Formats: sequence, C-alpha cells, structure tokens
Amino acid sequence: MIRFFEQLARPLLGALDPEDAHALTIKMLKHAPPLAVAPDDRRLATRVFGLNFPNPVGMAAGFDKNAEVPDALLRLGFGFVEVGTITPLPQAGNPRPRLFRLNADGGVINRLGFNSQGAQMVLRRLAARAGRGGIIGINVGANKDTPDRVGDYVRMIERFAPVASYVTVNVSSPNTPGLRNLQQAAALDDLLARVIDARERVTQTAGPTPVLLKIAPDLSLSELDDVVGIARSRRTDGMIVGNTTVARPPDLRDSATAAQAGGLSGRPLMPLATRMLAEAYVRVEGVFPLIGVGGIDSGAAALAKFRAGASLVQLYSGLVFRGLGLIGEIKAALIAELSRRRSEKIAALVGSDAAAVTAEPWPK
Ligand SMILES: Cc1cc2nc3c(=O)[nH]c(=O)nc-3n(C[C@H](O)[C@H](O)[C@H](O)COP(=O)(O)O)c2cc1C
Repeated sequence: MIRFFEQLARPLLGALDPEDAHALTIKMLKHAPPLAVAPDDRRLATRVFGLNFPNPVGMAAGFDKNAEVPDALLRLGFGFVEVGTITPLPQAGNPRPRLFRLNADGGVINRLGFNSQGAQMVLRRLAARAGRGGIIGINVGANKDTPDRVGDYVRMIERFAPVASYVTVNVSSPNTPGLRNLQQAAALDDLLARVIDARERVTQTAGPTPVLLKIAPDLSLSELDDVVGIARSRRTDGMIVGNTTVARPPDLRDSATAAQAGGLSGRPLMPLATRMLAEAYVRVEGVFPLIGVGGIDSGAAALAKFRAGASLVQLYSGLVFRGLGLIGEIKAALIAELSRRRSEKIAALVGSDAAAVTAEPWPK
C-alpha cells in the first residue's frame, strides 16, 4: 500500500486541488484499507498520560476531522491518531478555496475554519469501532456561532470521554474568530476548571480520560508563562505544542501563496514550533508530558522535537510532501538514535536539548 501510494497515487494527488486531494486520500483509505505494517520494535513503545503507545509517532488533528479512517491510519504505522477538530453541531467552515500548498517551502496554509460533520455523526462512527483497540485522541472545538463557547467544550468532553483514549481541548485554531482568546489567563482558567470538572464527573462511567490542551505557537513568552501555570494548577494531563502559525517567516519562497490568510504549517513552522516546545518544556518542569508538532518532515526533525521536550510527536503537512514513507523513516531514526545512545527508552531523549534550544536566538 505504501509503495502503491508513493509510485502512483502521490504524483496524482500533488496535481490536484489540495482539498480534492485530501478528500480522495480519505476515500482511498476508507475503501481500500491498507494492510498493517509490521509490528513496532519494542524499544519504540512508550507510556505517556497513563496510556501505552506502540510507538510515539501520531497523526495530527485535522487530517481525519470526522473519524472516517482512524483504523486505516493506525495500520499505516502511526502509534496513535488524533481525530477532529469536532464541533458540537455540524458546520461547513469557510468558503473554498481554503487550503493551499507552498510547494517551494514544504508548507501548507489552511483556513478551513472547523468544517465538521458534528458530534452526533462522529460519535456514531467511533462507537461502531469501540473495542478495536489503538489509541484514538479526540480533538474538540466550539461552533463558530455558539452562544456559549465554554459550554460547547464541556458538553464535548462529556459526550466523547467514553470513546476517547484522550481528549484535546483545541483553543488554538486561527480560523475561528476569537477562539484563541480562550488562551488568555482568566478565560483559560475558567475553561480548564470547567473542562476538568466535566472529566471528573464522567470518570466513573467513562474511565480516566486524559485532557490535553493544544496551544498556538504564536503566544508571547509571558502568555506562555500564564498558560503553563494555569494548565499546571488545573491539573491538565498534557499539552500539544502546537497548532499552525499566523506568522509568515520572511524567507518563504512562495510569497504569493504566503499572502493567503490562515494558519501556516509544515517545514517553515519547524523553528518556531520547536522553540515554543522547548520553552513550554522548561516551564512545565516535568509535571505533565508534551506532544511536539509542527514542521516534522524527516527523521532528524522528529528527533529534534524529542530533544526539545516532546514525549510524543505528531505530523500532518510533512506527509503531503514526503509521503507515507516518512512514518517509517522517523521510527528508523528513533531506533538508530536509541542504539547510538545504548538506551532502551525514548524517555531518555526527551528534553535533553531543551535548555540549549531556549538559549538560541529567537527564530525568524
Ligand atoms: C489542513 C489542515 C487542517 C488542520 N486542522 C486542524 C484541526 O482541525 N484541529 C487542530 O487542532 N489542528 C489542525 N491542524 C493543525 C495540525 O494538527 C498541526 O498542529 C499543524 O499542522 C502543525 O503540524 P505539521 O507542520 O506537521 O502539519 C490542521 C492542519 C492542517 C494542515
């Protein structure tokens, strides 16, 4: 399947409109599910948030927004899959075109705006696969026109905890006006208090469900101080660093496409996202783990995330440019690094460069 994809499907997908290519990929995964790759080397296994991951490489949110193909993605070799962002009610998102490739930069800009089939449809799909195993995180958001944003998150936690390995509270999409204001101290404190409270209420029936907070890479360091402080005091189980950026690095080559509004991901995001990851790591002081995401397009880039403080990594845009072989490349790089260090555990890598990364000049 991976070879088929690389030789036949990928050149075709690259020639299509990006959103049509994405829809076709989901269709292919749905109707021609891949054969499972070989089981992972046991040195890739890792326990994070109380969950046992077969390997630490995850599919980031946004690819399978409606939980149509989580099992196909697990069979491709991901150690976990984050579906969503799911909103309570179905919504169409922004008008097309709203997804753009920056081919010369290995970047993507999207302003999808939480296009979602809504909670009811997605819950039905997830309930139908319950018992199949595999780590499925569920990324939740608020409807654009909701009168009660925090209430949306609370209800989503209550509804999805029973079918989720973990739930991600996404307050960092740049494409829903005002959403990222939920990262401001008073609003975030209220949100996390109510979300964690909701999780506690459903624990008896749903079992323990870790709650993670996904943040923007565009926070200032003093905002990050607040966010980490609040996440710690509200006993959040972890953070994902981070979402797409509204910044445009000055050295982007595809400057015409770079002018599109939306969140930038892929290779141009790597320096900022990795810096914010390290900055978060030194502030969290080991109280909870971090997932590193943003710009991973090689084994070396993934290793840099672990060294900057990630216990797990996720990717999306790198797959567009490097294809599915990237998953195996990252796992091979991890095993090679562990062998070089004569270490049996990924945890030994985590954060080893964080202090050094935070001492570098701020990325452009
Ligand atoms: C097309 C697209 C859609 C996305 N949708 C979501 C989403 O719904 N929720 C979310 O939390 N992140 C979303 N993301 C952000 C990714 O999960 C990830 O944080 C970001 O793309 C950085 O990783 P990458 O450089 O490996 O792509 C989306 C990214 C892309 C490219």
